[in-house]
Amino acid sequence: MRALVSVSNLRVSFATRQTSVEAVRGVSFQVREDSTLALVGESGSGKTVSAMSILRLLPENAVVDPASRVEYAGENLLTAGSARLRELRGREISAVFQEPMSSLNPVLTVGEQVAEVLRLHRQMGVRQALERAAELLAEVGIPEPRARLRAYPHELSGGQQQRVMIAIAIANEPKLLIADEPTTALDVTVQRQVLELIARLRERHRMSVLFISHDLGLVGELADDVVVMRDGIVRESGPVERIFHAPQDPYTRALLACRPRLDARPRRLPVIEDFMRGSPVTDTPLSRPAAGTPVVQAKHLRKEFRLRTGLFRSKSLVAVSDVSFDVARGRTVGLVGESGSGKTTVAMLAMRLLEATGGEARLDGTDLLQLTLARMMAFRRRIQIV
Ligand SMILES: Nc1ncnc2c1ncn2[C@@H]1O[C@H](COP(=O)(O)OP(=O)(O)OP(=O)(O)O)[C@@H](O)[C@H]1O
Ligand SMILES: [Mg+2]
Repeated sequence: MRALVSVSNLRVSFATRQTSVEAVRGVSFQVREDSTLALVGESGSGKTVSAMSILRLLPENAVVDPASRVEYAGENLLTAGSARLRELRGREISAVFQEPMSSLNPVLTVGEQVAEVLRLHRQMGVRQALERAAELLAEVGIPEPRARLRAYPHELSGGQQQRVMIAIAIANEPKLLIADEPTTALDVTVQRQVLELIARLRERHRMSVLFISHDLGLVGELADDVVVMRDGIVRESGPVERIFHAPQDPYTRALLACRPRLDARPRRLPVIEDFMRGSPVTDTPLSRPAAGTPVVQAKHLRKEFRLRTGLFRSKSLVAVSDVSFDVARGRTVGLVGESGSGKTTVAMLAMRLLEATGGEARLDGTDLLQLTLARMMAFRRRIQIV
């Protein structure tokens, strides 16, 4: 199959106050037409910088070596003018990133943002663009797409925000979709749905996908080709079956061996060096403190949001209907569930970062929901969120 994008000898360095850091040191790879290429490698290995070089969406202090080439349809994008790049971005090549909220505009509705890319590249009228935006929201699996056109990004769950980003990215049927860890901020059930969505869209729209991920399990399922990076260079690349079943490079082997396992509870997560050095990782399970008196007790938490459905109409959306749980001292409670099921909302209610419609959130017996704001301030320090 033909190459859609050829990156050759890409070198990118960053000018910092004292020195210059070479983040990408002579990287070459090709994204073939109609296929998925995964860039994998540990944090800081240069995956994002390599991918963003294609669209020239690099930080201001980035310096691209003049001998580097990013060839797209016979054109070197690294020397293309800014008008040409604006024309290509969002139309022929588009991108979705890890944090949908940092890419979506908080003050524009979802409909306005999807319609905007259509109007920008396709000279569509407002009405027609909104009509198409609703179709796109339906295509990416957003329930009640028409009503959601009027929603603001913060009114959607993380998974839904990422789906909106994908709708924007595919609105103009690009040839290449760059997906930079598009699901790391999402929970596991939604990760899968979003990736399946990308895989389905790739097939239907005959796009190519440049997919960046830490998750080798997902890469194994989604990618046709894999590029393994470390410290700004390509350690190994090839078809996914070959890389997974017969890795040549010790780093690739270590990376594959490092995949976190769900069936064991290692004392500390194994790191690449453990495997490269060949030292075994002990699988001593962590001990759990006994369940004692609860520190936190949530009882019958409830939260309703008002959703605008028209100029004067609104309806109520029950985000959390009746949630109760206890957290004992020293223990960890996992709140799991699919996207939009209300997990984050529950946490915010329990910390009173969001006012509950009903229920109790007790910390050492005190119901935080009944406290005055001044007294709440004193409790804030005892609960932290990351
Ligand atoms: N604006 C910047 N200024 C200076 N250095 C930068 C800048 N952006 C990235 N770097 C450096 O470039 C290197 C590669 O970063 P990059 O973001 O491509 O890594 P990555 O492989 O995408 O990592 P992650 O998996 O954590 O996203 C890192 O050493 C990083 O510190
Ligand atoms: Mg990155």
